[in-house]
Amino acid sequence: MTLLAKRSVIKEDKSNIITLGAIAKEEKKKDNSIVNATIGMLYDEEGKLFAFKSVDKALGLLTTDEKYAYASTPGSKEFHDALKHWVFREYYNEFKDKTAVMATPGGTGALSSTFANYANEGDKILVPSYMWGNYKQVAYENHQDFEAYSLFNKDGGFNIDDLKERCINLKKTQGRVLFVINDPCHNPTGYTMKDSEWDMVIDMMNELSSDGTPIVLLHDMAYLDFDSRGFDSTRRNIRKYQKLNDSAIVVMAFSGSKTFALYGVRIGAQIIVSNNKENIEDFNKANKFSARAKWSNTTNLGINLVTKILTDKELVKSFEDELAVSRKTLATRANTFIVESKKVGLKTLPFVCGFFITIPANNPEKAYEYLVKKKIHIIPMGNVLRVTISAISIAECKMLPKIIKEAIDATN
Ligand SMILES: Cc1ncc(COP(=O)(O)O)c(C=O)c1O
Repeated sequence: MTLLAKRSVIKEDKSNIITLGAIAKEEKKKDNSIVNATIGMLYDEEGKLFAFKSVDKALGLLTTDEKYAYASTPGSKEFHDALKHWVFREYYNEFKDKTAVMATPGGTGALSSTFANYANEGDKILVPSYMWGNYKQVAYENHQDFEAYSLFNKDGGFNIDDLKERCINLKKTQGRVLFVINDPCHNPTGYTMKDSEWDMVIDMMNELSSDGTPIVLLHDMAYLDFDSRGFDSTRRNIRKYQKLNDSAIVVMAFSGSKTFALYGVRIGAQIIVSNNKENIEDFNKANKFSARAKWSNTTNLGINLVTKILTDKELVKSFEDELAVSRKTLATRANTFIVESKKVGLKTLPFVCGFFITIPANNPEKAYEYLVKKKIHIIPMGNVLRVTISAISIAECKMLPKIIKEAIDATN
């Protein structure tokens, strides 16, 4: 008989990514020729975990207190301001008083607190149909449910029609809507929304909230700084949030894991955008409460490290240069993979940029087993296979499509 509480009996982290990632890591320790394209971290061309030199340099400048003392729950004012400068860039002045920041352990903490505070118990949270699977667990942990909208329409663009229809239905049944968009570099497909698609999302939010219904967008921007188009287009789209009316808000989930390659430091943030002061005050109160109850405060190390990098002119400049190089490497890997895929007739889901490329498959588990025998580890999920191009070299990106095509043909 289990001693677990009722809702906990079914709790089991079945994430393929963590389990199969751990297997691939162990196998690679024994045989370095194994291709490990499983886990969403950035590796260099030699197969070593990528670390930004500027981030390492900033780490060396932190005092003992800055590293090891307790942090304040929301994070320091300096951290908030530094992050606002980073996220809003040239639009900082337009946004600084219409936004608030709450430090969280990674983007995951930001997702969890946002789910907890903007949807009621039992509510369905709208998530994309291809998704980072952890959204489902976060919803369950917060006593909530989820529903998926189709990410793609028949032309391979963002499916605003399906999203809108589901928002309208949830508005009727729940009296509020919380929906998630993961952009740019959507995990797992690498899809990145066009400017016009963002315009449609903003218009939809304003339309559905015009009668005072709370419409909340959780913008999961984990891969914000890996958009191959650079900073301009991501910030141009963020700028559109100013058009939202008082009942429509955006909470962004920022991930220090991805932007600064600080995966294990566990630093991220929720950032709210709203023209309404009360919304900002509510955000600060409720999310501080949740943070205190769940993790008390996140790492002082993460908060001060991010602040140091972003407030030191030289460090931020060299960080931006390094980021540009890693974005370029990712784009070269992606391009190599896509070109080879076309050559061998391997289909991929609509990809623009980012850490992952996804391939439709009828029997992804079988294809996974086939590939493991060929010393290739990628992730089977639902009806697709996910290849983590951030973790493999350009040479591996060239070699993989042919073998994956073989695996799919052999197991279909
Ligand atoms: C889409 C997406 N959102 C959020 C996260 C959360 O990352 P972290 O909690 O490390 O910031 C990840 C991590 O892989 C992700 O892929």
